[in-house]
Amino acid sequence: MTRAWTWSYEGYDAGAERLRETLCALGNGYFVTRGAASEVLSGPAHYPGTYAAGCYNRLTSIVAGRPIENEDIVNLPNWLPLRYRICPTDAAPGPWLSPDHPQLTNHRQTLDLRHGTLTCWSVYKDEAGRRLSVEQCRLVHMGEPHLAALRTAFTAEGWAGSVEVESGIDGAVRNAGVARYHGLADQHLTGWDTGSEQGDTLWLSCRTLDSDIRIALAARTRTPAGRGGTPRTQLSALRAFHTLSLPVTSGSTTAVEKTVALYTSRDPAIESPRHAAVDCALRAPHFRRLRASHRRAWEELWRQAKLDVPGDAGRILRLHLFHVLQTLSPHTADLDVGVPARGLHGEAYRGHVFWDELFVLPFLNLHLPQVSQALLEYRYRRLPAACLAAREAGRAGAMYPWQSAGDGREETQQLHLNPRSGRWLPDHSHLQHHVGSAIAYNVWQYGQASGDTEYLHTKGAEMLLQIARFWAAAADWDPALGRYRIRGVVGPDEYHDGYPGAAEPGVDDNAYTNVTAAWVLMRALDLCHTLPEAHQRQLFERIELAPDEPEHWDDLTHRLHVPYHHGVISQFAGYEDLAELDWDGYRQRYGDIRRLDRILEAEGDTVNRYQASKQADVLMLGYLFSPAELASVFRRLGHPLDDDIWHATVEYYLRRTTHGSTLSALVHAWVLARVRRPDAWTYCEEALTGDVADVQGGTTAEGIHLGAMAGTLDFVQRGMTGLETRDQALWLDPAPLPELSKFGVRIRYRRHWDIDLRIRAEQVRIEVPASENAPVRVELRDRSFAIAPGTTRRLDLPDD
Ligand code: BGC
Repeated sequence: MTRAWTWSYEGYDAGAERLRETLCALGNGYFVTRGAASEVLSGPAHYPGTYAAGCYNRLTSIVAGRPIENEDIVNLPNWLPLRYRICPTDAAPGPWLSPDHPQLTNHRQTLDLRHGTLTCWSVYKDEAGRRLSVEQCRLVHMGEPHLAALRTAFTAEGWAGSVEVESGIDGAVRNAGVARYHGLADQHLTGWDTGSEQGDTLWLSCRTLDSDIRIALAARTRTPAGRGGTPRTQLSALRAFHTLSLPVTSGSTTAVEKTVALYTSRDPAIESPRHAAVDCALRAPHFRRLRASHRRAWEELWRQAKLDVPGDAGRILRLHLFHVLQTLSPHTADLDVGVPARGLHGEAYRGHVFWDELFVLPFLNLHLPQVSQALLEYRYRRLPAACLAAREAGRAGAMYPWQSAGDGREETQQLHLNPRSGRWLPDHSHLQHHVGSAIAYNVWQYGQASGDTEYLHTKGAEMLLQIARFWAAAADWDPALGRYRIRGVVGPDEYHDGYPGAAEPGVDDNAYTNVTAAWVLMRALDLCHTLPEAHQRQLFERIELAPDEPEHWDDLTHRLHVPYHHGVISQFAGYEDLAELDWDGYRQRYGDIRRLDRILEAEGDTVNRYQASKQADVLMLGYLFSPAELASVFRRLGHPLDDDIWHATVEYYLRRTTHGSTLSALVHAWVLARVRRPDAWTYCEEALTGDVADVQGGTTAEGIHLGAMAGTLDFVQRGMTGLETRDQALWLDPAPLPELSKFGVRIRYRRHWDIDLRIRAEQVRIEVPASENAPVRVELRDRSFAIAPGTTRRLDLPDD
């Protein structure tokens, strides 16, 4: 195993264990299991969560005296348990061993990214000098989405006797992975049942309390040569366990294999989750064969999503890609699920779906477009819920929820806890209606990258038009200003959820909201003009589009308001009137001020009073749009935007942003790299280390930051290359950072497969595989090339 393809931890560190569990989680898009020790059921250092994509449940809690509903991704029964102890022939059995036990002398764990396995090595030594070395390898099968396996090999040194092994399934689990949620209801499962089949296979079934999803796990525990005999079975209401006794002699190695199947009643083509799980576990091949087919599945994935960046940055990017693919894999294409902001790696944000897909789909579009389409389908199926939400708010069109989960209703919490002050506070983040524009953007980008006009012209167009309609209904004409305004929203920044002292939440004329709304309206108009007649008629009838609506949309694209102050774009109307924060003072007093909102609230103040942003807001525009595209939206709106204004805007907000979200460093890295600023690398490094170094202070233990992980991949793929796929061509405008000047990516777009791009010094190398049946058209900074199938072209980068 080369270092470039592994992620390792030397020594056991209880304090870092939960972080490692997240970063060493294994999954396949259908489910993910945290990289927790198999030896411990629970404890302060361990949180063995397993989450199936889309498996949510709603519970009511009493918070601050009022009933509050929350829908959570459910922590499923734990299939990992496997513990062991030394049973010498000439002495009483020793204690059950685990990394927490003082007999541990060595510990190491390695994630093999290429092959998708986690291996842990532990050595224990008792007072009599008996040693037990344990090597445990686990996988969550990338080819067979319901299967996982754990092989544990024991080597005895200096003693003989047996290793007693206890292996099972633990149904006594709760959602207890996030300290901030501890006051909330956490028991999502009920109706447990346990049983055993054919001596070596156990099962446990249960269901979620409210969503009534039935869940079953089956675990087969075997020794390769049947050396442990038939296991003894212990069944209780919430647990099913086997005990085996493996004979060992000094110097010999013996192994036990646990093979697990997981099904839920959301799965197609099954009679019942229990029967499906038991059959699957009973029929599964032994570990070596499972590992071989699992490796093949991973090899194919790495072929499709090749990213070749040297050095430490490359290693972290590979880890990011690994976790993105474990959360959103080709299996996702068969599921009704969205993009969970924190992966399926923990319980933060309850497994909800936010706007983070904006940072994920553009990457997936160029590798696994079928997965992108499935993720858009998740939104399409919830279009009626979004239209209902808009109607209930007195608007037309579709108002997608800021946080989405099962059925597409608004899942944003009504109250959130400030852990610094201990106070529960009203949460107004549901006013982030800009999530609709993110969906529309992804529809459009997917259409551009995949060439799937059928989707774009049908379901894609329906979503996009309904989102456009919502914006049209949200914009009011202000005669004094002579412009349309969208009021009472929250922008991506999130810190500003209202004006200081105002009775109603929300801010007015958020530049990001308005400019993206204008862009959505422009694309909706494009679609109205270009849809094939049959599609157009059907769609217009279906959504009852009035003849004058497009005309109104067109007017909005010319007259939506974007505020400015001191030569920069204002984040929202009145931003310049807010107080300046004493940045140095706060940094000196608190050190880390990423969550300035919590600091100020705990002081009895509010961040709404200050020109201080949590994350990129106006600057998001430079992330989403190329300079030419952004300029054209502004031109049409009749607002000024030139290089001077943009550079001044970048400078202005850079000094007023705390980067309290992992997305912020990513967006800043992208924007600064595109304007060729030398400090871009600082932000890039922060984006790269966001999870591996747990930059946001303990949050990675609660789940990865999927948007930032996928975003860093896209930063290389599209940010550094300036890649766009439009008008049947591949557009390139490379701006590599000096620290990241050599890299390669493989992309797939429209009907072109496996196009290799390599950037090196002042050159781009493009390799078109022989399997292509037509030349690939490349537009490199105003120069056009046609690259024939089976050829490689080296193109020099002209000076800027
Ligand atoms: C960020 C949001 C993001 C959410 C989920 C928040 O901290 O401010 O922009 O969508 O996390 O990742």
